[in-house]
Amino acid sequence: MAITDDIKDRIDIVDLISSYITLNKAGSNYKAVCPFHSEKTPSFIVSPQRQSWRCFGACSTGGDVLSFVMKIENVDFYTSIKQLSQQAGINLNDSVKHQKTDFLYEINEQAALFFQESLNSSSGSLAKNYIDKRDLTEKTISDFRIGFSLPSNNTLLNKLLSSGFDEKQIEQTGLCKIARPGQVTDFFWNRIMFPIENKQGKIVGFGGRCLDDSNPKYLNTPKTEIFDKQSILFGLNKASNSIKDLNCAVIVEGYMDVITAHQNKEKNVIASMGTAITEQQVNSIKRLAKDYILAMDSDTAGQSATLRSLESAWHVLDTQNNLFQNNLLNLGKPPKIKIAALPKGEDPDSLIKNNLSGWKTLIENAMPYKEFIIEIVSEKNDKTTPEGKGQIINALIPTITSSKSSIEQEHYIEILSKKLQVSSDAIRSNIGRASKPFSKNLKRQKKHNNSISLSALKSDPYKTENFIMAILLQFPQSKDQINAPETEIFQKTENREIFTSFLNSNTIEELEIILSPILKEQLNYLLSLKIEPVSEFSAVNTLNQSIAKLEQVHIKNMQRELLSSIEDSSQNPKEIEKVIVDLNQKLKISLNKYNQKTS
Ligand code: CTP
Ligand code: MN
Repeated sequence: MAITDDIKDRIDIVDLISSYITLNKAGSNYKAVCPFHSEKTPSFIVSPQRQSWRCFGACSTGGDVLSFVMKIENVDFYTSIKQLSQQAGINLNDSVKHQKTDFLYEINEQAALFFQESLNSSSGSLAKNYIDKRDLTEKTISDFRIGFSLPSNNTLLNKLLSSGFDEKQIEQTGLCKIARPGQVTDFFWNRIMFPIENKQGKIVGFGGRCLDDSNPKYLNTPKTEIFDKQSILFGLNKASNSIKDLNCAVIVEGYMDVITAHQNKEKNVIASMGTAITEQQVNSIKRLAKDYILAMDSDTAGQSATLRSLESAWHVLDTQNNLFQNNLLNLGKPPKIKIAALPKGEDPDSLIKNNLSGWKTLIENAMPYKEFIIEIVSEKNDKTTPEGKGQIINALIPTITSSKSSIEQEHYIEILSKKLQVSSDAIRSNIGRASKPFSKNLKRQKKHNNSISLSALKSDPYKTENFIMAILLQFPQSKDQINAPETEIFQKTENREIFTSFLNSNTIEELEIILSPILKEQLNYLLSLKIEPVSEFSAVNTLNQSIAKLEQVHIKNMQRELLSSIEDSSQNPKEIEKVIVDLNQKLKISLNKYNQKTS
């Protein structure tokens, strides 16, 4: 049995949750004041039958024992397993002996401590002076765990060896390198060290800055099993709460930009670490907020390479479904990307430090990125001659037509029409000519409509969600084409975890690497499911249908739970009625989506 199932078998959700909060019987369920947000009337319901919990109030979230512990203890999946297995008397050591990547995190953690100690030692005084010069407070230095790598070739290596790690393990973290055959040395020397944390707050790598103007200014941990600069955003762990609260993330380029921002209470700021943001990075934040503001220096912002990479990395937001919103009042509000172009010669670090209100104004006035692209392309090209205008329009067609809504398209056409002094009809007819080939795709899609058999899963209580996961794993490319579901609709935390990791990996091999070994059993089960051979097109179709179905089941379950909790009169019936009506609305949207996909 998988350890997760073992835990769920042995730990009753009512017992578990009652050890944190007081539960009161309500119908066949239990009810409480939600521990995750402040409220007066209880909207937190625990269902012993389904071994699930849910808040019907402001957080509108729920799950099983694992997700409850993750949320209430604010820990990651693995830590929740550790805690619950201990409670259940299960020996986790047997299951985690093969914990493939744990030592990488441990070594990075030890290294961070060593760098911090070194900064505070007498050998760190020059580094300390440098940091002081950059106006970082003691609190910031300790919050970001800034440290110093000594100017000698193997102090870290020796320290780690004496802690019991072997050379091979240390090499795998990138903290040491083979200088000559047979000679291993530290990778970072004489640099200010910035630990880079993953989303869970574990250190996966470092950025190291030299103390003067020498080159390279920054050196980063090379690619390892747990670190890839392309898929990590610096500061995300510290920023994610603020990003969610403000429903907005500000993306800058550098370590110091993030650190100075946070020191000045601008806490929704994260960094792409020098390069333009990648699709993987966008994927890792696309569920956190609705607004994304890219702070760029004015030179970068005006380069066509930057504009192109903007479109290619952020297109995943266009396909991000917004049909299954947690917040009904925000239903369908589309994600927005904006650009804030910095004044010449400033970066966020300097601007925030010298002119905090100027920074705030800049962020408030950031321009929607399509308008920004239209502005830049029109300004940088010849908009005085008919040929020039034609060129500009043609160059902007992909930008305009990538908006699916025709209302939005019209909006951009109007802007462009004003800018170029060309009638909007003329622009529209240019667009019409350019976008003909699109209809071919539709035809091809229609031809394949075979369905995939569900028979392999008949007796599985998590039939639909396992089925969805199985097809996704069989057709990993389809993830960009489907109506991406909220992880909430998966009842099993295991599936939520696998699904999230899947979104963050490019291949199944990569997924296997980043996945906690505890989830391997569930992953292997999903990979083993015999799904009839289908084409990619029908996979997308089937996925969309199954996702819609799972959403509907999820919503109906919520309604059922609510209704079975009304018995006593303590609950305000008006409130329950409102939630039920809201859920009906959600259900309707989901059903519509299903109809659209099948017609
Ligand atoms: N960067 C890098 N490697 C380099 C140069 C830059 O990885 N050789 C990344 C770092 O994440 C850096 C970011 O790109 O923070 C932005 O680079 P840059 O603007 O040159 O540096 P700043 O962040 O402004 O650094 P500082 O203020 O310390 O000069
Ligand atoms: Mn800087």
